[in-house]
Amino acid sequence: MSTSHPLGIDVGGSGIKGAPVDLEAGEFAQKRLRIDTPAVSTPEAVCEVIKEVVDHFDEVRSDSPIGVTIPGVVQHGVVKTAANIDKSWIGCHIEDLLEERLQHDVVVVNDADAAGVGELTFGAAKGHDGLVVVTTLGTGIGTAIFNEGVLVPNSELGHLEIDGVDAETRAASSAKTREDLSYPEWAKRLQRYYRVLEDLLWPDLIVVGGGVSKDSDEFLPLLDLRTPIVPAVLRNKAGIIGAAVLASSAQRRHGRHTG
Ligand code: BGC
Repeated sequence: MSTSHPLGIDVGGSGIKGAPVDLEAGEFAQKRLRIDTPAVSTPEAVCEVIKEVVDHFDEVRSDSPIGVTIPGVVQHGVVKTAANIDKSWIGCHIEDLLEERLQHDVVVVNDADAAGVGELTFGAAKGHDGLVVVTTLGTGIGTAIFNEGVLVPNSELGHLEIDGVDAETRAASSAKTREDLSYPEWAKRLQRYYRVLEDLLWPDLIVVGGGVSKDSDEFLPLLDLRTPIVPAVLRNKAGIIGAAVLASSAQRRHGRHTG
């Protein structure tokens, strides 16, 4: 089968997941493939798995956009930080490495930026102008800032220093699991985090994503904020969908489409 659906691939700490995305529907065009992240998750090892994901989808053509997310700052194709991944990623020109390995144009972006684009295009922030902050609560805290629908990339507000510590070490959902916190206990930490965030940015809307957002009823009602705060709707699909959206718009901008 031949189609021009872009492929989104989300690289996480435990799994590497990909699917072709139907950009009309904002849905996966085929069932998602998930492969475990290699135990030693160096860029080379992860690239091998990404190649497996790409090869799995026989509809990927030479002109299909491919977008990949990484849980770190990605500037001009180069990974700059690695808070929760192997430190060997720092300084790696991941776009070049992937393009060489796949013989295909690739766009690599921060995971939270991709999830934010997914939510803005098809999910909880769809149709919201003004200042929107999408946060992802997982191993770390990812953030994506949009003003009037335009992404300010690599915002990294999960690493705000609050009460003398890196905020994600206290308020990410991994902290809840690690310290066996109840939802009300964890919500106190989220309250502190989101209050600082809203005092600094004055957003019009905050979206809460990450796997734990499926239980948002347990903690969002406990928060007392001036900013409307809502759960993500695409959940763990947001990164894949956003990566596909970004790869597709990069291709249009660069006129890479060869037909
Ligand atoms: C990283 C971010 C990432 C977030 C979520 C943070 O530790 O610094 O780049 O978006 O985790 O994975």
